[in-house]
Amino acid sequence: MPLSGSGTASDGWSSRTAFVLAAIGSAVGLGNLVRFPAEAGESGGGAFVLFYIGCVLLIGLPVLLSETLIGRHGQASAPESFRRVAEQSGSSPRWEWVAGLAVLSCFLILGFYCVIGGWVLHYIWLFLEDLFATGISGTAFQGVPASEVEGLFPAMIGNGMLTVSLNLVFLLITFAFVMRGISGGIEKAAVWLMPAFFVLLIGITIYGAFGGAFSRTLDYLFVFEPEKLTGPVMLAALGQAFFSLSLGVAGMITYGAYVGRNVNLGGTSLVIASADTCVAIIAGLCIFPIVFAAGLAPNGGLGLMFQTLPHAFQEMPAGSLIGLAFFIMVGFAALTSSVALMEVPTAWVIEKFALARPLGAGIVLVGGVVLGTLSALSTGALAGFHPLGFIGLFEGQGVLDTLDTLTSRLTMPVAALLTVIFIGWIADRRLVDSENGLTGVLHMTFMLLVRWLCPLALLAILVVGLFPGLLGG
Ligand code: TRP
Repeated sequence: MPLSGSGTASDGWSSRTAFVLAAIGSAVGLGNLVRFPAEAGESGGGAFVLFYIGCVLLIGLPVLLSETLIGRHGQASAPESFRRVAEQSGSSPRWEWVAGLAVLSCFLILGFYCVIGGWVLHYIWLFLEDLFATGISGTAFQGVPASEVEGLFPAMIGNGMLTVSLNLVFLLITFAFVMRGISGGIEKAAVWLMPAFFVLLIGITIYGAFGGAFSRTLDYLFVFEPEKLTGPVMLAALGQAFFSLSLGVAGMITYGAYVGRNVNLGGTSLVIASADTCVAIIAGLCIFPIVFAAGLAPNGGLGLMFQTLPHAFQEMPAGSLIGLAFFIMVGFAALTSSVALMEVPTAWVIEKFALARPLGAGIVLVGGVVLGTLSALSTGALAGFHPLGFIGLFEGQGVLDTLDTLTSRLTMPVAALLTVIFIGWIADRRLVDSENGLTGVLHMTFMLLVRWLCPLALLAILVVGLFPGLLGG
């Protein structure tokens, strides 16, 4: 349904389902498939997972609703939407800077996200080659020593030509969708890729449940050991919930702007947050049985997906085929997220400079290539270049890690904190009430969370994120 109003919102989602799929597509990505299992692994499983679910419900969900609400009311790019809501609430138009910061973060995330998306493309290629060599029922990388399979990862990230080209390919695919607009491109990515993603995820999980160490995985992910719930684990869970729900970076403000007035935002936010959380948990149920069945340890970090898993596929029947399906699935999820990451700055550029969409998206693409090239080289030739290394928090970090730390520790929590303060304390009550679609107890709970719990929790992530020494870890 094309929306009235000025700015970017002349295009719109063709249905509520399209919006929900696109928003889930934005939320479900490398965060769910790579970061969540790795963080759960690093933090020792159950305590992290259960606390994570609490964070999503009590803190993520109200922020998600606040963001979509601002977008839907403003019907424009994120900064413009923020400004409209602020002005109608009788407060300063300068609130648009909050969303401006969020748009900038989105661009910075784009600058490293597609590099990792490119790595996934490389692994799709490696498994495809392997499948041709071994056939459909073969295990992966037959006759290759495990150390060599694990060595594929450092060999790839150290090869600058390769990582730069992969990033470029991933960005170009993303651009191909974004330049076609909401109903003509972005929505298409979600409507085709998300169902395919779900089929692959469920299929591989069932395969792992029968062939892998499923009951050990259940214990690992769901047995709550209170002593493991330390300060750093709690903050990691909260930060992960924000990253995974695409909050604090104007993603949901931007997508919300294309939503029709008839959509109930409260209910829709619940659907989006639940789907994202289910995918994260199913990703755990998909990955760990395969890892455990191969007798490997659930290590953290990027090594879990790019080293441990390929090694585990060497031990699994039809490992070559399943490995290929696995990385294709990850690629789909990453693509629907990178499309959202590119759309956020694109919507702003188009509106601000009154450009045609392909040109606006092209400008963001060029920026993404520059930043992405630096990130892609930071695991190889530019490993010694630490742009913010003079600040303690960024010590020893190359461009890729710097962008990640800068956004997840600083700009995302700041933007999210200011957003909830705005919705909880500044914005006009009637406007918020009429947009959020909540009544009675739900409405009271929402206000309580947005006013008190969300700001306090976000302040905690911010302070501890910037001064990790405070928690001793
Ligand atoms: N949520 C995405 C993931 O889990 C990553 C992400 C963070 C994102 N912020 C975003 C995606 C904004 C799109 C828009 O992988």
